[in-house]
Amino acid sequence: MSKQKKWSERFEGNLHPSIARFNASISFDIELLEYDITGSIAHAKMLAHTGIIAESEAQKLVQGLEKIRQEHHNGEFIPGIDEEDVHFAVEKRLIDIVGDVGKKLHTARSRNDQVGTDIRLYLRDQINKIRSQLRDFQQVLLDHAQNHVETLIPGYTHLQRAQPISLAHHLLAYFEMAQRDWERLGEIYARTNISPLGCGALAGTTFPIDRQYSAQLLKFEGIYGNSLDGVSDRDFAIEFLNAASLIMVHLSRLSEELIFWASHEFKFISLTDSCATGSSIMPQKKNPDVPELVRGKTGRVFGHLQGMLVLMKGLPLSYNKDLQEDKEGIFDGVATVKSCLEAMTIFLGEGIEFCKERLAQAVAEDFSNATDVADYLAVRGIPFREAYNLVGKVVKTSLASGKLLKDLSLEEWQALHPLFEADIYEIIAPKQVVAVRNSYGGTGFKQIHQAIARAKAQIESSQLH
Ligand code: ARG
Repeated sequence: MSKQKKWSERFEGNLHPSIARFNASISFDIELLEYDITGSIAHAKMLAHTGIIAESEAQKLVQGLEKIRQEHHNGEFIPGIDEEDVHFAVEKRLIDIVGDVGKKLHTARSRNDQVGTDIRLYLRDQINKIRSQLRDFQQVLLDHAQNHVETLIPGYTHLQRAQPISLAHHLLAYFEMAQRDWERLGEIYARTNISPLGCGALAGTTFPIDRQYSAQLLKFEGIYGNSLDGVSDRDFAIEFLNAASLIMVHLSRLSEELIFWASHEFKFISLTDSCATGSSIMPQKKNPDVPELVRGKTGRVFGHLQGMLVLMKGLPLSYNKDLQEDKEGIFDGVATVKSCLEAMTIFLGEGIEFCKERLAQAVAEDFSNATDVADYLAVRGIPFREAYNLVGKVVKTSLASGKLLKDLSLEEWQALHPLFEADIYEIIAPKQVVAVRNSYGGTGFKQIHQAIARAKAQIESSQLH
């Protein structure tokens, strides 16, 4: 360490170099630099607006701060460990640039309300970016759904073939999950967008500040009503990491399906060259690295949520240095969700092709139309449970003779029950099996068209504002 740091005249000794390093957050909170400058500009303007400093002084501060922003963009602002954190780094550089007036910036402010402001400005920006990425992800799902209304795929429960469904229906299930994610982030945005600026270190300030004024400049929707809460609340970060975790749950479930759909055993999709990788030793292989990585990265986001909960649970009011530990989890949570959404959207858009022939074969080669045979009898007056038992027997004998239901002759059907007529073949055809599930939210084609219309409207409505 070049220069050893002395805090103020209260301190006689210097900080031990290892402790200085241990204390410092500059290596990661530099991520907040843009927001720190934006927050400081609003604070400086507020100080002038309330007459705490002169207008000309505020102008110098703002110009100096903008210069630092520029230096950062140009890669010229590279603070060292002596600066401890982004807030000190900016203040120190500001004093270098504008001279003694720079020392006025921190009037009526503490790093506690400052860092709280920065992290909220950062997170609300990131929430907007993630919401827009969710829209892109939804759009690619919707595009596939529109192309595959009548493509059928086995529907599963317990990972056993259950009933055939429209591929669009399957994909739109993920659309709906993403819709909830999008809405949830909107709600969290509202609770993130509250200004703690002016809460001071913990108790407010003696200066006649105008918290509403700086909040308005920063486009915050409201201000904290209690200064202790203002400097120590990280609920919004927990809520964000919870929402991020749910996004990852959804992406990871989709990943799992894509991975086995791409396997030789399923072959429901094939991987294009733009998003698949090969093996260094087995030349025949094409690996679904993208969904595997997404599934793998899910754990770290859950970890950050857990980390943040534990960080907060024992903290007395108000600010404690523990809170410096909030940042890396938030930053990595944001970066992970963003990279996964981007990769998954590209992967869905150009990395996969649905193998329509294989899918058609899959829905024709099983007994997933058995419910429809039972329904056939139930509609004709046989109590459903009785019909169910009878069809169970049919499946058993068919399995024994290596036949599918469609292979039974009309005589065989009628021997099983006299109510069977020739229309049974139409009833058990996969397309028909899907078409008749026309209850609201079901897989019937009419329902899918309505679901697609709803999905489009949801995407369009968000483009309005
Ligand atoms: N780097 C600190 C953090 O991230 C800034 C706030 C420091 N406040 C304090 N009272 N030491 O939390």
